[in-house]
Amino acid sequence: MATRAKKTKGESGPAVGRRRSPVRASGRGRRAPHRVTLIPGDGIGPEVVAAAVRVVEATGVAVEWDRQRAGREALLEDGTPIPEALVQSIRRNRVALKGPLATQVGEGFRSVNVALRKTFDLYANLRPMRSIPGVASRYRDVDLVVVRENTESLYSGIEHQIAPGVVESVKVITARASTRIAEFAFRFAREHGRRKVTAIHKANIMKLSDGLFLDCARRVAKRHPGIAYDEMIVDNACMQLVLDPGQFDVLLLENLYGDIVSDLCAGLIGGLGVSPSANLGGRCAIFEAVHGTAPDIAGRNKANPLAVILSSALLLERLGEDDAARRVRSAVLAATTGRGGRTADLGGRATTEGVADAIIARLGKPARRGRRAASSTAPPPSRRR
Ligand code: NAI
Repeated sequence: MATRAKKTKGESGPAVGRRRSPVRASGRGRRAPHRVTLIPGDGIGPEVVAAAVRVVEATGVAVEWDRQRAGREALLEDGTPIPEALVQSIRRNRVALKGPLATQVGEGFRSVNVALRKTFDLYANLRPMRSIPGVASRYRDVDLVVVRENTESLYSGIEHQIAPGVVESVKVITARASTRIAEFAFRFAREHGRRKVTAIHKANIMKLSDGLFLDCARRVAKRHPGIAYDEMIVDNACMQLVLDPGQFDVLLLENLYGDIVSDLCAGLIGGLGVSPSANLGGRCAIFEAVHGTAPDIAGRNKANPLAVILSSALLLERLGEDDAARRVRSAVLAATTGRGGRTADLGGRATTEGVADAIIARLGKPARRGRRAASSTAPPPSRRR
């Protein structure tokens, strides 16, 4: 079953929260390197992040990686899962590439991922979900974007015990955060040739909290008459996504629904191993795969690095390196349809390093200077910040 094709076709994924590269040409046209904070992470993190670093370096874009500890490694070495050096590094560099970090279930320190998103006010979690031809999945032509509010809802971390056997977890929804994320979704849709934003909710039950979220989305929708707007209750949305993902374009969700629905969407395109993401704020951005630390396969050179490699393509766009981003995506498409480009989770036999090699071998030549990358989803230059 194939979903309806969208008009934004091509190899290039959505550009994310663009701004001008912080480094400009110097000397005889040579660019100073971009500085990027690098968090290898836990479990399979160091393996897949190393593969992504090799691919980025093979594009020829000069990057100085500022390696930082976080999570379990930092807890052991520095006594805290979020060392001050890490916070300072992201604050300075404004962009980070991050591997997954382990979070203990039901105990232990609070999620480092959630803490980083809050520290840097990375309010928008963007997950472009696009079918990859060489990756077997139920659908061949999925092309949708999940926009998830990243800072509140049930991730506020406010939980308490009322009495033994009775706990309360507080869902926080504010007009400010809801309006901000809705505005992001509509702006993104407009800048990337998308047609429709669907707000997903459970306002029939959570009338106040999800009601407020919807209210804000409706107000913002009125300011963007060129983009269609509709709403769907989250349980129905899950079924509709499985039945026909082609009816969706940009999905707008509060934090918890966004977390769950984006994994569902990852399943539509072949799983977590091919799903990139970006956490975007006004100033800083952290790029990471959707998947976790996969402790069951860690350290065995078996992990699929495509999700982090595709996330690094989003990072390259953030740095203004559109051509390199396009070449990485083209090489991923070529590698997954060719020999040696798929790990076991995608039905192949390649190792993590082997997939990186296959992609690097297929990286096309840089576009000639002065020619803009043929990015079908890039906003016009006037929109770049
Ligand atoms: P997971 O994503 O680590 O693993 C789920 C399943 O997918 C496992 O069978 C795993 O082997 C497989 N898988 C995941 N990534 C893969 C890859 N790149 N290549 C091949 N197979 C892959 O999810 P799980 O088990 O729920 O979480 C494990 C840990 O990861 C937890 O501590 C969790 O908190 C953390 N986590 C961290 C995230 C982050 O840092 N952004 C996101 C999700 C989970």
